[in-house]
Amino acid sequence: MRQDPLGYLSTELQALRDQGLYRRLRVLDGEQKACTSIDGRSVVNLSSNNYLGLTTHPRLRQKALEAVEKFGVGTGSVRTIAGTMAMHMELERKLAEFKNVEAVVVFQSGFTANAGTVSAILTKDDVVISDELNHASIIDGCRLSRAAIRVFPHKDVDAARRILGGLPAGQRKLLITDGVFSMDGDLGPLPALCELAEETGCIMMVDDAHASGVFGKNGRGTIDHFGMHGRVDIQVGTLSKAIGALGGYVAGTKALIEFLHHRARPFLFSTSHPPAVAAACIAAIDVLLEEPEIIDRLWENTRFFKSGLARLGFDTGLSESPITPVIAGDSARATKLSDRLFEEGVFAQSIVFPTVAKDKARVRTIVTSTHTREDLQFALDAFAKVGKELGLV
Ligand SMILES: Cc1ncc(COP(=O)(O)O)c(C=O)c1O
Repeated sequence: MRQDPLGYLSTELQALRDQGLYRRLRVLDGEQKACTSIDGRSVVNLSSNNYLGLTTHPRLRQKALEAVEKFGVGTGSVRTIAGTMAMHMELERKLAEFKNVEAVVVFQSGFTANAGTVSAILTKDDVVISDELNHASIIDGCRLSRAAIRVFPHKDVDAARRILGGLPAGQRKLLITDGVFSMDGDLGPLPALCELAEETGCIMMVDDAHASGVFGKNGRGTIDHFGMHGRVDIQVGTLSKAIGALGGYVAGTKALIEFLHHRARPFLFSTSHPPAVAAACIAAIDVLLEEPEIIDRLWENTRFFKSGLARLGFDTGLSESPITPVIAGDSARATKLSDRLFEEGVFAQSIVFPTVAKDKARVRTIVTSTHTREDLQFALDAFAKVGKELGLV
């Protein structure tokens, strides 16, 4: 009998179980909302990136339904062949105006926006200078580009400067950071990095996935928050988190965007967004512009919840955003914290190695503008109870 050539995967999975790193997928029974049902249990949901509640916003839902009625469910092609619809162009025009740049190209996800862009603009002769906690999609883009990768310690601009000091003047260099770091919720040091990029002639790129819809005027992101307009060459945003639908985009000069039309492999080789997604994203930008109070509410909730966790005595790291990690230590403890919270009616997923360092396992909480004070107090009471049980507070 033929031996299973994939047998080694079962061994690997057992090793994950032995190390407390095995993850079971939790299943959402209903909509992605602040209070919902997961695996048959009603919970306060602290684990989605649905910062503004747009996944179920009536305006987005309506526009998506109309798009299905009018244009069907798919585009049937990649953008460069037959898959560009008028609404893709409208979305890109709207995003470019919103982000105050010459042009935008939309990708299928934030992941493909990062990976597709970095791998398109660099070659093996170039070098990337990258924060150690940058998102996996940036890392994969760097690897695909075959450029040399030089990693600097988290937010350490002096270390980045030292790396740059040792590189040949004529070499093409990309300096890259997350705007908001996804597992810690802290911000990239944009003003200092932009200055360094200008001093050393680097291309400056910021992945603003978790800042889109959250930071800056009407949610324009960290570039707006820090007043860095015109100083970041490549901005990446997502449409999958605060925008509530799916996708990623690159914002920059017309030449950059036209180049990506010709060389970014996910743009060339993967089918474009279905009409409902593009329509929902267009409606989301209108909501950001016309209902900015939802962003204010997000920040009020963020302050309330963060101060509550701090008062209880949890280690919440150095977050500056609605992402608040509750650090538990090893992965078994983080998993236990998440499981016990779930039993108490709070969904806060554990994040373990390799997503974070082995001794920094955590549950990651994200409040949204649609949580009520009662929801958040309920969650804080559960954290107090379980935190004491596990000796975390
Ligand atoms: C910092 C960062 N960049 C990019 C992405 C990818 O975005 P998307 O989910 O739209 O693919 C994520 C999402 O996990 C992220 O956290």
